[in-house]
This record gives sequence, C-alpha cells and structure tokens, in this order.
Amino acid sequence: MPHADDLYAFLSTTRSIRRISDKPVDNDTLQRILQAAVWAPSGGNRQPWRMIAVRDRDTKQRLSEMYSTEWAKYVDFNMKKLEGMPKEVVDQAAAGLAVGTRLAAGLADIPVVVLFVHDPSALYVTDGGFGRTPVVGGASLYPAVQNLLLAARAEGLGGVLTTLLSSREADVRELIGFPADWGLYAMVPLGHPVGNHGPLRRAPLEEMVKFDRWS
Ligand SMILES: Cc1cc2nc3c(=O)[nH]c(=O)nc-3n(C[C@H](O)[C@H](O)[C@H](O)COP(=O)(O)O)c2cc1C
Repeated sequence: MPHADDLYAFLSTTRSIRRISDKPVDNDTLQRILQAAVWAPSGGNRQPWRMIAVRDRDTKQRLSEMYSTEWAKYVDFNMKKLEGMPKEVVDQAAAGLAVGTRLAAGLADIPVVVLFVHDPSALYVTDGGFGRTPVVGGASLYPAVQNLLLAARAEGLGGVLTTLLSSREADVRELIGFPADWGLYAMVPLGHPVGNHGPLRRAPLEEMVKFDRWS
C-alpha cells in the first residue's frame, strides 16, 4: 500500500515550474506521466479530451512565437495595473513576469510541450444560462492536467499549466491539425526543473473552507 505521506508531500510542493532545462525526458517516464493524465475522471467517463505531446522543434518554435505574443499582452495588462504602486512592488512583479517571458521565448528548447484539446459537444454543462461564465464543463478537462503535473512532480520533473495560448486556438489547430470542432484548453511545457519545487503560497485552510453553512 503506498504511503499517504508521499502523496501529501507531492501535493504540497507541486508548484508551477517555468524554468525548465533542455535535458531530454526519457520515453518511459513520459509514458507514465501521460498515463497518469489518462487516469483522470470526466463526466460520464466520456474522456472528451486528447493530448498532443509536441517534441518536434519546429512545431515548438511556432508555439513559442504564438505564446510569446499572448504572454506579452498579459505582461502589459499586469504592468498597467501596477502603475503608481511602490517601486519594490513593481520590480517584484516585473521579475516574476520575466520568468514567464523567458519560458515563452525558450519553448523550443523544452523537451516536451503537451497540448490539451477537447470535444465541446461531449461536455454536459450544468451551470449554463445563469448569466455568468459556465465552468462545470471544464471539470471534465482540467483534472487530467493536474494528474499530469502531479505525476511529473513525482518523477522529479516539472511544468506549468498555461491557458494563454487558447486565444490562438485557430492557429494552433492549423499547426497541429486537430478537428475543427475541438478546442484548445491548456498547454503544459514539461521537463527537468531548474531550481526547486514548492513550497506553495496559498490562503490558509480556515479561509478556504466552511462547514455546513456559508456563515
Ligand atoms: C487556469 C490557470 C491558467 C494559467 N495560465 C497560465 C499561463 O497562461 N501562463 C503561465 O505562466 N502560468 C499560468 N498559470 C499558472 C498560475 O499562474 C500559477 O499556478 C499560480 O500563480 C500559482 O503559482 P504556483 O502554481 O507556482 O503555486 C495558470 C494557472 C491556472 C490554474
């Protein structure tokens, strides 16, 4: 029987890894990580999603160009929000974003870039029509990404769930050739981390959970 402590150790240290070396990921390890993603649950067990593990350098380079454009917009958006803030705050935010800029520029050097695509027609959306963004459909999709990241962590590898590339879905579809009625919901660069996993920065449990009623 595996020990629960091991699982908690991985859960509490699986953070976004954006600094990834170009050291190759061996094929058996990659297969195990991809298998972990496939173990994720989905509504009705329909598994309305697929992964494309991109290893081809030219394809990764194209993804890098597209993702860099979207990341640059995200940086602008964040930096504008910080106008007028103390210099230390601005500098700290800029340094954090710069790690993302390097990730975007260096995607071609990262051993594997996993694209997650989904079939929207297979999602049973129970929170539509409420005048807000429906989120339940995503519950059949994102557990696979988290399984992949946790398995990568357990293998000593790391990656980051990214979604910015979804706004370039049509371009990525053309590049990869996934079906016209399918969508792109995540991109995970994967490899050996440069630096450490964890610890996580999260709100305390008391803030995040209530028992029996809201108040
Ligand atoms: C839905 C979602 C979308 C995200 N999109 C991106 C992204 O496009 N690019 C990126 O660098 N990080 C992205 N992240 C990573 C988050 O910024 C990161 O998980 C968060 O800041 C917490 O940091 P940690 O994972 O290191 O603990 C995303 C995370 C989630 C859950």
